[in-house]
Amino acid sequence: MNQFWSQRARELSPYVPGEQPRVANLIKLNTNESPFGPSPLALEAMRAAAADTMRLYPDPEATELREALAAHHGVQPEQVFVGNGSDEVLAHAFVAFLKQPQPLLFPDVTYSFYPVWAQLFGLAWEAVKLDSDMRVRVEDYRRAVGSIVIANPNAPTGVALSRAEIARLLEDHPDIPVLIDEAYVDFGGESAVPLIAGHPNLLVVQTMSKSRALAGLRVGYALGDVGLIEALRRVKDSFNSYPLGRIAQAGATASVRDETYFRDNCARVVAGRKAMTQELMRLGFAVLPSSANFVFATHPARGGLELAAALRERAVLVRHFNRPRTAPYLRITVGTEDDTRRLIAAAMDVLGG
Ligand SMILES: Cc1ncc(COP(=O)(O)O)c(C=O)c1O
Repeated sequence: MNQFWSQRARELSPYVPGEQPRVANLIKLNTNESPFGPSPLALEAMRAAAADTMRLYPDPEATELREALAAHHGVQPEQVFVGNGSDEVLAHAFVAFLKQPQPLLFPDVTYSFYPVWAQLFGLAWEAVKLDSDMRVRVEDYRRAVGSIVIANPNAPTGVALSRAEIARLLEDHPDIPVLIDEAYVDFGGESAVPLIAGHPNLLVVQTMSKSRALAGLRVGYALGDVGLIEALRRVKDSFNSYPLGRIAQAGATASVRDETYFRDNCARVVAGRKAMTQELMRLGFAVLPSSANFVFATHPARGGLELAAALRERAVLVRHFNRPRTAPYLRITVGTEDDTRRLIAAAMDVLGG
């Protein structure tokens, strides 16, 4: 800190992203990236976009990408908003409509960026406790509030709500904005997108970082009623009119059009999750039922912090959140078959089995 900092900068407690190590040969299972590469068609489109036209600004509306996403999700292009990663889309939503006179609600264990944006943009918020199985109970949100954000599947638990449960949440709250963050929905969750038609207060946010293996490109998007999308555009155009460059637009569009590669990759991750879960359970871990590309697991013999450190010594990187309810757990990303083998070998070594 120094004398040039604003009061706001002094007060912030920024989000801490997962480690991106510079050490080679680490098994990196700490930031929920895809172990498989992006669609070859996306890579080809990005190479083609790296051309003389890079001297020109990109399409500020990302029209082609929004059209491709609209076709993929069965909505109109005017119902699609794109941004520089879903983090940017979520941040804009906090300003555009989650900020209301009454507080924003979200689970006590969830994506740790939500309280950071609330603080940055001056939103009052309240955390709603997950139940003892680490599940969101939509009944617990039945109270007078200004807005709601829920990650579904939730992070870092991986536990999902059904579409019927989201529908009940929306029935309880027809008059406030409800945001469902579906960063991990493609790995077995039920998307709330079909509920958009009947709910002008619902915004669904998704990302290309996980199921489309494009974390390095930074592309996320929102789907919802044109009224909500218009609010997001107003915020975007008061902040950065060109959030997606030409290469990002080209790569993301080609990825969305490559349905076969997308489906195959999701299926491979789901199979890998099943295998990893079985292996972890064999070692005595309790694993929450995951619909994401990671699992949240705890071992009765060792604390999470200790286990994460011991795995790191054996070149396996997992994520640990050192807060009261999450401290016993490790969040472990689904990797390749070889990654899982090395994870399990390291865990066996640590546990002495
Ligand atoms: C629940 C959730 N939402 C959103 C994001 C942001 O993803 P991105 O900004 O890469 O689209 C993440 C990233 O890990 C996440 O876990």
